[in-house]
Amino acid sequence: MFGGKTTGYILGSIVFSVCSLAFSLNNASFGAEYTGNSGCKCHMGKGCFEGEEYKERLHSNTWEKRLKGTPDAENPDCLKCHGSAYGEKIAEAGKKYLPNVQCEACHGAGSEYKKVKDNYEGKGKDAFKELLKKDPLLARKVQYDAGLIVAGINGPATVKEQCLKCHWENKDDKNKCPKTDKVMDYKDAFKKDDHRDNDEVDDVIKKMSPEDKKKWAALLPKDEILNSPLKPKKKE
Ligand code: HEC
Ligand code: HEC
Ligand code: HEC
Repeated sequence: MFGGKTTGYILGSIVFSVCSLAFSLNNASFGAEYTGNSGCKCHMGKGCFEGEEYKERLHSNTWEKRLKGTPDAENPDCLKCHGSAYGEKIAEAGKKYLPNVQCEACHGAGSEYKKVKDNYEGKGKDAFKELLKKDPLLARKVQYDAGLIVAGINGPATVKEQCLKCHWENKDDKNKCPKTDKVMDYKDAFKKDDHRDNDEVDDVIKKMSPEDKKKWAALLPKDEILNSPLKPKKKE
């Protein structure tokens, strides 16, 4: 009764529906909101690479510097690069965007992975730290499952791909800033912006067998640039 074509079609639709179901479940289980940088406090402390250095980066104040007080201050065409989370769900009521290129512009809406860190499995504020010591990979997984994105691992396939959402390498690029012709030198830009640190997961990865690497591929760097040596850490 079912000719090859029909079976193919039915199978196709099943595969398609299962995929879209998985997709919508994923998104539904997030309901994640953008918290803004103040939600990233544990990364922003003194002596902390991302936090201290971030404040010196042009990403951190580009809205104040380039848009604030101009007719373009709330222009979506500018905010997509000089701001964050335009048109997305933002925790603070009434906000339509976040100024500047904040952490979540690249790492995804933070409310859900913040909950994991603050109160993993409802076991209080030390539970995540304990998990990180006991099972670093699982600690990474639960954060990724809660929406944390790191380009080159579980987000855009390469870090460069993420940068090119707001930067360009060619003056004639259609997706470029109308106010400047300066093009990105990726290698240089990566060096300036790189803020990886050597954490518990990295130590585990170094000792992993090739079989385990395969098994945990979803949690490991795919972009080669993420295997390049880290910057020396700044002392407090
Ligand atoms: C595709 C992303 C993107 C969009 C869209 C965008 N910008 Fe930019 N803009 C950038 C980047 C990246 C730079 C910095 C380039 C550099 O210094 O290498 C920049 C630089 C600037 C500068 C500094 C120029 C200079 O003289 O150095 C101003 C001012 C500016 N943007 C305003 C705007 C305004 C206003 C809009 C909206 C009309 C806008 N931008 C849209 C990404 C963007
Ligand atoms: C422009 C995009 C971008 C912004 C903005 C950004 N990050 Fe990152 N972040 C990345 C990328 C890409 C990586 C991995 C490679 C690297 O460090 O460049 C990363 C790595 C990290 C890591 C290390 C992960 C690891 O496994 O070593 C932490 C922690 C982190 N970011 C926190 C932050 C915090 C906190 C902020 C805000 C203060 C922030 N990031 C802002 C893109 C960004
Ligand atoms: C959401 C948009 C956005 C993303 C994504 C983004 N940038 Fe930027 N970046 C900007 C804007 C806007 C500026 C301009 C800041 C200014 O001059 O006001 C900028 C400026 C910079 C600068 C300072 C200019 C310079 O050459 O010194 C560096 C470095 C940089 N970005 C690196 C990166 C890297 C590396 C990535 C990818 C990991 C990245 N950016 C991703 C928007 C973005």
